[in-house]
Amino acid sequence: MNVLITGGAGFIGGNFVQYMVNNYPDYDIYNLDLLTYAGDLTKHKEIEDKENYHFIKADIADRENILTLFKEKKFDYVVHFAAESHVDRSITDSEIFIRSNVLGTQVLLDASKEINVKKFVHISTDEVYGELDFDPSTFFTEETPLQPNSPYSASKASSDLLVRAYHETYGLPINITRCSNNYGPYHFPEKLIPLTISRVLNDEKVPVYGDGKNIRDWLHVDDHCSAIDLVMHKGVDGEVYNVGGHNEKTNLEVVQTIIKTLDKSEDLIEFVKDRLGHDKRYAINPTKLENLGWQPKYDFDTGIEQTIQWYLDNKQWWEKIIDGEYRKYFEKHY
Ligand code: NAD
Ligand code: DAU
Repeated sequence: MNVLITGGAGFIGGNFVQYMVNNYPDYDIYNLDLLTYAGDLTKHKEIEDKENYHFIKADIADRENILTLFKEKKFDYVVHFAAESHVDRSITDSEIFIRSNVLGTQVLLDASKEINVKKFVHISTDEVYGELDFDPSTFFTEETPLQPNSPYSASKASSDLLVRAYHETYGLPINITRCSNNYGPYHFPEKLIPLTISRVLNDEKVPVYGDGKNIRDWLHVDDHCSAIDLVMHKGVDGEVYNVGGHNEKTNLEVVQTIIKTLDKSEDLIEFVKDRLGHDKRYAINPTKLENLGWQPKYDFDTGIEQTIQWYLDNKQWWEKIIDGEYRKYFEKHY
């Protein structure tokens, strides 16, 4: 089997590449990534010499190159993660989000159609459903209408609709997964959890948007990987699967948990101007995926403790990032 994983130098795609290389030694795993600010290959040191791991530096929106590559490699599976992923960056400038997330997906769909792939798995997000209110009995299901609120989620929803259309129009065997917020190793430190861990460790203020009461539903990245593995191999063609583990937390609770675990003071919390169009609450109903045979392994308390420990053990990875271009971004943004 030839498996193409796009965005495999990023956070979730990177964890999924390692999961596949280690769990499927008979598959050839191709990691295709443009290596934008969010991509780095140092995370793959332990697998880079394995025979079943291959890296291709390419832009998913480069039509000619992608079409040629697909004809050459004849991929059986495409698992598509590559995207611009940060909501705040999309609010500042959405152009690259449309190019990579929408046009890039269209190019991959055309290339997949040309060579009749066995399955195209599109990694999407719960953010395409918009927001829920604070009533804890309400959840996103696969039938919830798409109502994206940020330029990022609008670009993801656009790509979801293209993927759906290629199934309806051309019979391309697709699945779409819509996962809640991930956390775990190699999470880029612009996102809430790694940003908080790295700043608290450096005794720097942690910016909490608005009143900190917005809710996100957190899932360990390993549980996301096992969900995608299941969908890739057992998902019913054309179906959407929500992924989430019922771990709803306010942002303030998340930040306080990290501060407490690291034995630091809550004086580090700084309430700052709210994100524009800030979605109030996300919460996933994962019943459809559970019925396919999936169960998450991590509860949030165990997962966050292990993640904090990982950031303590792997300082060289994130310190290198926060010292570079990222610092300029941070200073401009906050
Ligand atoms: P990330 O920003 O950490 O990684 C994205 C990767 O895509 C990077 O390696 C980058 O170099 C690559 N990339 C970007 N544009 C590219 C292009 N034009 N061509 C080739 N490669 C390109 O993102 P992430 O958090 O790992 O998210 C991965 C996917 O999962 C995204 O599609 C995102 O929408 C989705 N998702 C993320 C979460 C989350 O909590 N992070 C939750 C649900 C779904
Ligand atoms: O729900 C899935 C989505 O989760 C993915 O599709 C996105 O790619 C991913 O980035 C993530 O989006 P969020 O906007 O939810 O994640 P972020 O870590 O940026 O923010 C989480 C919450 O924390 C959100 O309510 C905003 C808040 N926040 C974030 C940052 C960066 C703060 O309060 N302060 C901050 O500095």
